[in-house]
Amino acid sequence: MNNLISGSDCTIRRGDYTFPECQVDDVHLNIAIYDDHTRVTGTYTITPLPHTGEVSQGGEATGKITLWGDDTLRFISLTVNGKSVHADEKSLAANAITLTLSGASTVVITSDINPDANTALEGLYRSGGMYCTQCEPEGFRRIIWYPDHPDILSVFTTRIEASKSLPFLLSNGNLTDQGDLPDDRHFAVWHDPHPKPSYLFAMVAGDLELVEDHFITNDGRRVALQIYVEHGNAHLCGHAMKSLKKSMKWDEDVFGLSYDLDVFMIVAVSHFNMGAMENKGLNIFNSKYVLANTKTATDDDLDRVESIIAHEYFHNWTGNRITCRDWFQLTLKEGLTVYRDQEFTADMHSRGVKRINDVALLKAIQFPEDASPTAHPIRPETYQEINNFYTPTVYEKGAEVIRMLEHILGKVGFMKGVALYIKTHDGQAATCEDFIVAMENANQANLSQFRHWYSQAGTPKVKVSRHYDSSKNTLTIQFHQSIPENPAIHTRQELVIPICMGLVSADGKPLPLIKEGQKKGTKECVITLTEKKETHRFENVPADAVPSLMRGFSAPVQLDSDLNSDELLLLLAADKDSYGRWNAGQELMKSLILDIIKHENINDSINFNINKLSSSFIAILEEKNLDYAVKAELLKLPSQQVVEAALQLVDPLAVWSARRKLAKAIARHIWVPAQAIITRFMTDLGKCDAGQRRLLNVLIHLLVLTREEKPYQQALLMAGHKNMTISMAGLGALNQSDAAERMQAMAEFEERWKNDSLVMEKWFSLEASCPYVSTPKHCDELMRHPAFDPGNPNKLRSVISVFAALNYRMFYANDGSGYLFLAHHIAEIDARNPQIAARMVLPLTRFSRYHEDRQALMKGALIRLKTAKTLSSDLSEVIEKTLSPKR
Ligand code: PHE
Ligand code: ZN
Repeated sequence: MNNLISGSDCTIRRGDYTFPECQVDDVHLNIAIYDDHTRVTGTYTITPLPHTGEVSQGGEATGKITLWGDDTLRFISLTVNGKSVHADEKSLAANAITLTLSGASTVVITSDINPDANTALEGLYRSGGMYCTQCEPEGFRRIIWYPDHPDILSVFTTRIEASKSLPFLLSNGNLTDQGDLPDDRHFAVWHDPHPKPSYLFAMVAGDLELVEDHFITNDGRRVALQIYVEHGNAHLCGHAMKSLKKSMKWDEDVFGLSYDLDVFMIVAVSHFNMGAMENKGLNIFNSKYVLANTKTATDDDLDRVESIIAHEYFHNWTGNRITCRDWFQLTLKEGLTVYRDQEFTADMHSRGVKRINDVALLKAIQFPEDASPTAHPIRPETYQEINNFYTPTVYEKGAEVIRMLEHILGKVGFMKGVALYIKTHDGQAATCEDFIVAMENANQANLSQFRHWYSQAGTPKVKVSRHYDSSKNTLTIQFHQSIPENPAIHTRQELVIPICMGLVSADGKPLPLIKEGQKKGTKECVITLTEKKETHRFENVPADAVPSLMRGFSAPVQLDSDLNSDELLLLLAADKDSYGRWNAGQELMKSLILDIIKHENINDSINFNINKLSSSFIAILEEKNLDYAVKAELLKLPSQQVVEAALQLVDPLAVWSARRKLAKAIARHIWVPAQAIITRFMTDLGKCDAGQRRLLNVLIHLLVLTREEKPYQQALLMAGHKNMTISMAGLGALNQSDAAERMQAMAEFEERWKNDSLVMEKWFSLEASCPYVSTPKHCDELMRHPAFDPGNPNKLRSVISVFAALNYRMFYANDGSGYLFLAHHIAEIDARNPQIAARMVLPLTRFSRYHEDRQALMKGALIRLKTAKTLSSDLSEVIEKTLSPKR
C-alpha cells in the first residue's frame, strides 16, 4: 500500500514511505445532514498506476489501495464497479479496508456519522448551531472511508444537503448548483478544480451572517471575498477583511503569487482546536482570530488576526498548490508559511519589533521543547500520533531554518530558489528534500551539510571566545558549536550556522569589518560556520571595539558570548540592529536575575549594576528617533524560560521571584522619567498610537510593582478605558498584585463583558494567571462560571493552560498541588478531546533541570494520569516519551 502503515507499536517511520499504487481521479461526496445523524457517500474513480502496480492478464494495471476509517464511522455499504463488497470484521475493526483494483474502478462507500457526538473537533462536528469540519491531518477519515494520505490528490465535487434552517451550505471551490428538496430541505453542489489531498477538504452548514468584499488580482480577475460569522458578529469582521486584502496584495507583490479561484471564504467558528485551517478556498478559523476591533481586542490581538489571516492565505500556494508528500514533511508547508507570514508582518509594521517578538517567542516556547523529552527535528523521523507534531519546532524553528537559507544564499538567491521550487512542484505533493534541491539548483549551491538541520533535534550552542592582539590590532574570534545532552536527540552532527555580525566602536559608531587578508571591509558580514571549532580573524580593529554577533538572530542557536557588561551596555545603547540592542539588554537582565538568585537578594554590587542598566533605559526612554514600540521591547524582562535555560539546576519559584525583584528595582530607578511618560500619555489616552500604547503597557506593569499608590490609580483608570489595549494594560498591571484596585477593576471588567464570550477569555486568563489570587481551587471555580464552556478549547486554555504556563507562583507550588490539578483536568479532557489533552499536558513534561523532589512530583502526576485512565494515543505518546525516554 501507499504510505506509512503503523506497526504493532503504532510507530510510523519516515523511511518506510512507499509510493501509492493507485491514483484517485475524482471524488464525489454526498453529505446529507439530518438531526440525529449525517449520511456520507463517497464515490471515487480510482486507477492503478502502471509503474508501481502489477499488470494483470488482461494487460490492465492492478494496485492495492487502503481506505482508512475511524471508530466513529458506522459502515453502511461498499461497492466496487457496482458489485457489493463485503467489508470483513477485521478490516472494520482496524479501520482499514484494503482493495485490490484492476484498471480504472468506481468505488462507492457509505457510512453514517454523528457530528453532535463529536467532541474531539476533528472530522465533521457541531460548533454552536453550525456544522463544520476539520480534516488536517487525519480528520477526513472520521467523515468517510478514504485513502486519507496527503500524497493522494484528487478533484472533489461535494453535494451537501440539509434542512433549510441551515441556510448556508459551503464547501471548497465554486458553487455549481443548488436547489430545494422536499421536507423543507435544500442542497448545494461545490466543485473544486484544483486536485487536493483530503486534509484540505472542508464543508460548513449553518445559519450565518455574511460580510462581503472583493479583490482584483494583478491580472484583472475579480475574487469575491466572504467572511461568514455567527449572527451579531458582522461588525467585528472589518479588520480580518482588511488583513485578507493586504495579504493577497503582498503575495502578488513580493512572491508573484495570485489567488486561483473566484471566491475566497473564511468561516469563524467558536469551537476550534487550533488557530485556523487553510482548506482550499474555504478557510475555517477559530473565531478568536477573526472577530476583533479596538474595543474588543488589543493591538497584539489585532496583529495576530492579521498574521493568521495572512498565514492561512499564504498556504494557498505553500501548502495547497504544493502540498506535503507525507506528514513527516509538515515543516515544508508550515516552516515556509510561517517564514512568509513573518515577512509579511515585518513589511506591514516594524521589522525590528517583529524580529524581537518572534525570537522572544522562539526562546520561550521552542528552545524549551528542544531541550525536553519531546524534542524532535523539524522533520521528525518517527511518530505515533501526527497531531502531536504541530509544534513550535516544526513551525517556528522550521521558519528559522528557512530564514538561515536567506542569510546563506542572500535574499535574491533565496527568492530565486523559492520561485524554482514553486514552478517545479506546482500541483504536486513534495518533500523537504525537493525544497532544498530547488534552492541548490537555483543557486548552484551545495547544501549537503545544511540538510542536517532537518534531521537533527536540539538547540545548538555556539560558544564564542575572543582574543585581541594589540600589537597587530587583530581580533580573533573562536566559535565552538555543540549539541546539548538530551536522550531525545539522536544525532550530533556539525551544522551550518550563519552568523551575521557587525562591529561597534567605543563611541557607538559602526566600524568596517575587514576579514583577514582582505583589503576592504563591510559594515556587516555573514560568517557561515561549518566546523565544530572555527576561528575568524579581523584586521584593523580598535582595542575597544565590540562585535555585535548574530544580528537579526541569524540562526536558531544559543549563543554563549564572552561580552562583558560594559560591552553589552554599549550594544544596548548603540547597535544598529534593533535585535542586537534588545539581545544585549536581555543578556544584561538575565545575568542580573541569575545574580539575584545566587545571592538570594539584591546586594550593593547587584544594585550598582541595576542602576547602571537603568540609566541606559532612561537614555532609551529619552532617545529621539526611536520607535516607542522598540523602546517598549528593550525594557521588557527576559522570559522565565530564558532564565531557566541559563541554570543547571532550576528552582522555578526562585526564578520567578528574582525576576520580579529585578523588575521592581528597575521600576524604582526609572520612576521619574517613566512617570513623566505615563502622565503625558494619560492626558489624552485616546490620542496614543499603537507604539505609545506598547510603551505605556510596559511602563505601567513595571511601576505597579513599586507598590506606590500612584501607578495603582493610573492602572485603575486605564482598566476602565474603552480601548481594549489600554484596558488590558491597566488590568494586567494590577493583576500582578492582590490589591483592592485589582478586585475593583476585574469586577468592572466582568460586568462590562460578561455577555461577550471572546472577551471573557481575557478575563479568565487574567484570573487564572494572578499569582496572588489564583489557586487550583480558584481555577475550579472559574470553570463553573456561566461564561465557561468545558467543550470549548479556547476556554480550557484560558483557565487551565494559562494557569500552568503563566502562573509560576501557584503552578510550581512546592506541595505539587498545581501538577495534580493539571493532571486531573487532563484526564477529563482526554476522554473528549485527545488533541487538546496532549498539548495541555506539556508543562508537566518540562522538568529535566528541576530538583529531584520537584521532578518526582511532576512525574508522579503523570504516572497517576497514566494508571488511572485509558489514555488516547495522543496523550500516551507524550507521557511515554517523558517517563521512559529512549536512549
Ligand atoms: N494547518 C494549520 C495551520 O498551520 C494548523 C492546523 C493543524 C489546524 C491541524 C487544525 C488542525 O495553519
Ligand atoms: Zn500553517
